[in-house]
Amino acid sequence: MESSGAAAWTTQMDRITVLEQDRSLLNLMTIIRDLNTNDRDFSAAVEKVVRRLITAALGHVPAEEYTVTTPINKPYTGIRFTKGVCGVSILRAGACMEQALRDTWTGPLSFGKLLIQRDEETSIAKIYYSKLPAGITDDIVLLLEPMLATGGSVIKAVENLTSNGVPEESIVLVNVVSSQKGLDVVSGRFPGLKVVAAAVDAELTAQNYISPGLGDFGDRYYGTTH
Ligand code: URA
Repeated sequence: MESSGAAAWTTQMDRITVLEQDRSLLNLMTIIRDLNTNDRDFSAAVEKVVRRLITAALGHVPAEEYTVTTPINKPYTGIRFTKGVCGVSILRAGACMEQALRDTWTGPLSFGKLLIQRDEETSIAKIYYSKLPAGITDDIVLLLEPMLATGGSVIKAVENLTSNGVPEESIVLVNVVSSQKGLDVVSGRFPGLKVVAAAVDAELTAQNYISPGLGDFGDRYYGTTH
């Protein structure tokens, strides 16, 4: 009998995926959220969570059934992906997910970068730098942003991608912690956008920190406070 490894691959993924809150993930998130975790342990735990996020996000890459012959001359029906992947980091924190994408994805891969900051006077998110690969319009785009607070930067990033020809349906936001408000804002604004997150927190503080959150992700990941 022909062996098939492809049984579950066609299952339609939800538009918004929150990783299964198993004990291993909850333990990592507890380390990440703990004020007393040092920057090195913080980044080590983040990398483990990001690997799981990237693996889940790659579930949105379309695939087709594909049969190979094994070394004992038997057929094995699995799958092969039919699109390439482009990781687009929202700088600076998004760049921390790039290595996990390189390690996890086996197909064609490119990277883009967006530097988006809030204008001090108007509070409106503005793009300061954008560099996207030429072939991005054919790819599944993983938009790498660990913290989704108000949604301002992600809205700007998705607008930039779609104005450069990327279909909204091809974009997957990869995110460690979302605020409920940010998630509602971006998913309401972009009905085709997919989101994969490790946690969704209920509140935003007056300074737009996610609460309970984990503090300033970039400062902790890159150790910039000392
Ligand atoms: N960015 C962060 O680093 N932390 C937050 O809580 C919100 C945005």
